Amino acid sequence: GPHAKILCIDDLRIAATEKLPAGARDFYNSGSTDQLTLHENTSAYSKYRLRPRVLVDVSRCDPSTTCFASPVAFPLGVSPAGLQAMAHPSGELATARACARRGVSMCISSFANYSVSEIRAAGLGVRGDMRHAMQLYTMKDRGLEEKILRKAESEGCSAVFLTADSPVLGVRYNEWRNDFRTPKGLNFPALEWDAEDIQGRTHDDGFMSFNDDGHNWARDIPWLRSVTKMEIWIKGVLTAEDTLKAIEMGCDGVLVSNHGGRQLDGVAATIDALPECVEAAAGRIRIHVDGGIRSGTDMFKALALGAEHVWVGRPAIWGLAYDGEQGVDLMLDTFYNEFKRCMQLTGCNSVKDITKACLGVVRSDGP
Ligand code: FNR
Repeated sequence: GPHAKILCIDDLRIAATEKLPAGARDFYNSGSTDQLTLHENTSAYSKYRLRPRVLVDVSRCDPSTTCFASPVAFPLGVSPAGLQAMAHPSGELATARACARRGVSMCISSFANYSVSEIRAAGLGVRGDMRHAMQLYTMKDRGLEEKILRKAESEGCSAVFLTADSPVLGVRYNEWRNDFRTPKGLNFPALEWDAEDIQGRTHDDGFMSFNDDGHNWARDIPWLRSVTKMEIWIKGVLTAEDTLKAIEMGCDGVLVSNHGGRQLDGVAATIDALPECVEAAAGRIRIHVDGGIRSGTDMFKALALGAEHVWVGRPAIWGLAYDGEQGVDLMLDTFYNEFKRCMQLTGCNSVKDITKACLGVVRSDGP
């Protein structure tokens, strides 16, 4: 077939990366400073071994579950990654259609190149019960922040993902080395930036101009609650302490994330931070995870360690860059097929069967 050589997400990464100009490629693929966390997000998965049960009837294996209290085909969604139209002109519209087709959720970035209305319409056009979350930064302009929230809610988004790991932007050398600027013609409707303003700015300058480094639990979470009925999720939690804080503040969920290694370099791989968050949560708050997940087996390990659901950022970008909407279809199908195959080969018939008992040897020397 047309995708005969794309057998896994790493094949997709390589094929997509070849198609992108250097500035875009490095913007998407790189992490901050030494990129220790970027690489460890993926490599940390290799220290876990699976512990399969054999001679289990897996003929009716069903990877479906729920996300935002709504059915999804399997426990994976697309994380909020900005600037998707730089990878393919259809950008977030293509991602939304592919997610709807595969029966999974998508989180819309505040840096999306299409409006929330357009992205919602694209997804709902394929599947009427498609779920979106809206990613939000705490902004100096509280009026604009409120406008983004109200727009997301009125368009039917189910949740807000408050990005909590970015009081300031992480230092990404690639953007300075390439003098990275957004290509002409791309818009940022949620942020209401005009094209001329964007052209003159680096990403760092643009981000620092609107983002509020005064953000904090006590001010921002009660305010969010007063403005919206959407679920409130904290994106970027890496510790038991902050998991407990999210519970105390009445949040609906926690996304264990290090922003794909793009914010503070040197923090733990998310799969290594996950267990302490799960333990602290003790079932009182939902826990999802993203960062470095590149196979159905990685997904399976995250679920075995207590995540309810996972999200992927760059794999969607690679799908877009490789073949637009069909590329995202290919990415999602690859994860779906690998995850279901992994469940069957470990003797799991439903995601509830994926427990700690499914993980065996943990190499203590790390990857
Ligand atoms: C991101 N991420 C991100 N997160 C966020 O909260 N708001 C944003 O606008 C963006 N933008 C963004 C752009 C690009 C190009 C990337 C790669 C990532 C982080 C994203 O939501 C997610 O946490 C990571 O991408 C997950 O890691 P993987 O799957 O990319 O390894």
